[in-house]
Amino acid sequence: MKHIVVPIIPRRMQFDFACCSTLDWCGQDLIRTAYMNGVSLALPIGEHFFIRSVRQFEDQVDDPVLQDELKRFVAQEAIHSRQHQQYNEQLVKDGFEIAGIEAYVRHLLDEVWEQSTPLERLACTIALEHLTHVMADCIVGNRERLRDWDPEFRAFWLWHAAEEIEHKAVCYDLFTRLGGTYRMRSRALLTMSRRMMAVFWHGQQVLLAQACAMRGIDVPSSGRVARSNLDFMLGRPDGLLRGVELPYLAWFRPSYHPWKQDNRKMLASWQQEMLPLNHISDVPMG
Ligand SMILES: [Fe+2]
Ligand SMILES: [Fe+2]
Repeated sequence: MKHIVVPIIPRRMQFDFACCSTLDWCGQDLIRTAYMNGVSLALPIGEHFFIRSVRQFEDQVDDPVLQDELKRFVAQEAIHSRQHQQYNEQLVKDGFEIAGIEAYVRHLLDEVWEQSTPLERLACTIALEHLTHVMADCIVGNRERLRDWDPEFRAFWLWHAAEEIEHKAVCYDLFTRLGGTYRMRSRALLTMSRRMMAVFWHGQQVLLAQACAMRGIDVPSSGRVARSNLDFMLGRPDGLLRGVELPYLAWFRPSYHPWKQDNRKMLASWQQEMLPLNHISDVPMG
């Protein structure tokens, strides 16, 4: 398809993760906060996987536009990863033990890496980038759903989500240029969707048990946590991911391309309203 040109801008940002309690910054709700904190723990490891999977093909790209986009993609993901590490360090300062969760995520992704060919690794990356950007579309496009989040954490997640949208097609374009197939990417999305949900669920369970111990309250049953998650994600009217189904499934159209969903207006309104609050500078890319 004709390429929609969206600038991919790696930005230096500043967030104060000590601004509020990391136990319940998300709507003062321990279960929802544990979910989001679990996502944060997985991300630096996931982003490292993305960067490695792209770097395998560095020498095979001779299109200068794609080369530049890949450089910007790597820079954005590296900054996301560092910011999430700071967030995760705050969890440790607040008394959480995170090493076991990180080891679990690392183990799953190492397994994927070792059992895959280089192009299959990239297929896993584009599948995870698809999941990331369809979720990012939902939250950046419906920011009112996040109104009871602590403002600092809200700004942080929206910044990450917006940059995911900016670079959503980069790895996909690399994959298609390298001859990646429909079958390979379809399989990768099914596998990675399952794995991602397992990772987030595991992180939430462990963190929630720790948060409840810190507050001296009973840990809710798995059934209650699952119902709460369903409401958090898909409940009426403010489920974070309401409306995600069709964008998710669009992947299975043979003619799919990430920019068939044009989010330029959404990005522009985020840049105007939210970005200035925590933005230090853009990273010069030479
Ligand atoms: Fe990212
Ligand atoms: Fe990404």
